[in-house]
Amino acid sequence: DLPQRVRIYEVGARDGLQNEKATVPTEVKAEFIRRLADAGLTTVEATSFVRPEWVPQLADAEDLFPRVRDLKGVHLPVLVPNGRGLDRALALGATHIAVFASATESFAKANLNRTVDESLAVFEPVVARAKDKGQQVRGYVSMAFGDPWEGDVPIHQVVRVCTALRDMGCDELSLGDTIGVATPGHVLELLSMLNEEGVPTNVIGVHFHDTYGQALANTYAALEHGVTTIDASAGGLGGCPYAKSATGNLATEDLVWMLQGLGIDTGVDLGRLTATSVWMAEQLGRPSPSRTVRALSHK
Ligand code: HMG
Ligand code: MG
Repeated sequence: DLPQRVRIYEVGARDGLQNEKATVPTEVKAEFIRRLADAGLTTVEATSFVRPEWVPQLADAEDLFPRVRDLKGVHLPVLVPNGRGLDRALALGATHIAVFASATESFAKANLNRTVDESLAVFEPVVARAKDKGQQVRGYVSMAFGDPWEGDVPIHQVVRVCTALRDMGCDELSLGDTIGVATPGHVLELLSMLNEEGVPTNVIGVHFHDTYGQALANTYAALEHGVTTIDASAGGLGGCPYAKSATGNLATEDLVWMLQGLGIDTGVDLGRLTATSVWMAEQLGRPSPSRTVRALSHK
């Protein structure tokens, strides 16, 4: 049975914009977030408190976050890679944070400059302190399906990192198909294995990139398995600067179109959302890669 309601975890302002070559003005980012909230999205990942030299596009986090933090009816999670990131997030009144681990050594090194175990050791006190402060904590697991340097990623590696993040207190996990190579059978296999190892479906979110055009098919498989948290990015913006070949995330509009057709409630106003992505595409100077945005804006 498919779920009746799905929570869309919107990542466009973070995963989308972190990958832009041109720097997007802070006020444009703030307006983007306001418009996403106004379109009915209840979780809008806002930015990252990472080392600015690593992700220059999000170096304005201190300036951006206060412009949006008082928005009503929306949670605004932020990425934190370490204790310094958590300090910055707490100082600005963030209530939802996300740490981001990797299932592979290659990406842990490229993205966090640490081994997998070293990065988990960094996250442990971060998650403990965040939980102590009453934060909601998400744990991303990147390269959960395939890795550009290592190829197929064995499921046991993913399960190990998921279990470690759960054990340290993460409320929710997000399985990242960072380079978009997953296919539905692989998704079902990983979800089943996680369940067998004691990770319940209700703490699992899925995070698909659409590099091979599989993101919606993978989402459908996850829905059939009972997953109700789906990451997506407005207009299909996105990628990861430290993962070659990663393209945009599943477009939120494509997701909402499918969910509407299935009678699954999301609370999102597709017209407003599409208008937001068309506006953002104008700001970025190129059309949205989302098929649904293109179809709905060329009527
Ligand atoms: P490092 O170079 O090893 O840093 O980077 P360090 O720990 O050696 O510290 C060196 C200096 O950086 C210190 O300054 C720190 O204070 C400073 P000094 O004492 O020398 O003056 N520093 C910081 N400054 C500000 N904020 C901080 C911070 N941390 C240290 N938080 C580090 C290690 C983890 C910091 C770095 O690798 C980093 O910032 N990485 C982030 C990369 C990133 O954001 N990637 C994209 C997000 S992940 C993603 O997109 C995947 C996802 O979408 C899911 C999927 O698709 O798979 C989530
Ligand atoms: Mg991503």
